[in-house]
Amino acid sequence: MDTFLQQIPKAELHIHIEGSLEPETMFALAKRNGIELAYKSVQEVRDAYNFQNLQSFLDLYYAGMSVLQTQQDFYDLTWAYLQKAAAENVRHTEIFFDPQAHTSRGIEFATVHTGIHQALQDAKEKLGISAYLILCFLRHLSAESAMATLEQALPYKDTIVAVGLDSSEMGNPPSKFQRVFDRAREAGFYTVAHAGEEGPPEYIWEAIKLLNVSRIDHGVRCVEDTQLVKYLIEQQIPLTVCPLSNIKLCVFDALEKHNIKQLLHMGLCVTVNSDDPAYFGGYVAENLQQTQQALGLSQQDIYQMMKNSFQATFLNPEEKQARIAELDHFMAISVG
Ligand code: ADE
Ligand code: ZN
Repeated sequence: MDTFLQQIPKAELHIHIEGSLEPETMFALAKRNGIELAYKSVQEVRDAYNFQNLQSFLDLYYAGMSVLQTQQDFYDLTWAYLQKAAAENVRHTEIFFDPQAHTSRGIEFATVHTGIHQALQDAKEKLGISAYLILCFLRHLSAESAMATLEQALPYKDTIVAVGLDSSEMGNPPSKFQRVFDRAREAGFYTVAHAGEEGPPEYIWEAIKLLNVSRIDHGVRCVEDTQLVKYLIEQQIPLTVCPLSNIKLCVFDALEKHNIKQLLHMGLCVTVNSDDPAYFGGYVAENLQQTQQALGLSQQDIYQMMKNSFQATFLNPEEKQARIAELDHFMAISVG
């Protein structure tokens, strides 16, 4: 089973590139940029990763990314993630980045974007992995700040497939960003949003009805609303579920209590993703391995979730079909 989970072709749809900043890289970049960290060692950093909720994680996440200063830093960060992803047979990935977390520190939008984008281009050529970019607005900041960020992104439209919504969910409902998302869709971006991670089912409804999202990021609290569950099944709106993240941020008490298997068996379009792998204890294969063990997922369950991921990508229909054919071929030779 472990080899099967390592090798099965994957798509990853919920990964914050800043959340792939490993403590070792944090120290290396701090040194390179002459930045003083609040920690003395890599071990001290790892020991600090003990979160009570989303906000306690976000505080360290935003502090950690202060080491990212130059285009090269953003390139190195992204390249390191893509190498790990390729090693786990991630065939396609759609990567979030948080420009406001950098522009608010005086880093130019172009510095962030160019560094990340260059790594994505190199990955296509050298690793054979395709990657799209999703610009996330920080929902704890104002709608005006999000709108200004959208304006900054317009010259890069061809290299950013969608906009999303992340950061502190409670008290920052999707409705706060309705106008920004209207404008983004007019400009030709797809939309996604974090909803129902800590927030209530109403936030998922708002993301669907007001922001017209193609996918819900997390969405695990949908089970509290039977009408919503019915709607998600009927419309096959994908949920990008992140099991290890949900445990680290205390959304569920233990992986054994996670509802991903229940959602899958009810017929929702669920996918498995890593969220912030450097902070939550593993990349996508590790998420699959631990979840499979804890919940006793079958190879058929895993296959269905991988197929859902490819279906849920922003790839065009031909590209989707080609990746699913590759997945089916893998199943035929490894399971029979
Ligand atoms: N930013 C990075 N990871 C996040 C998460 N899990 N929820 C909301 N915002 C985030
Ligand atoms: Zn996330």
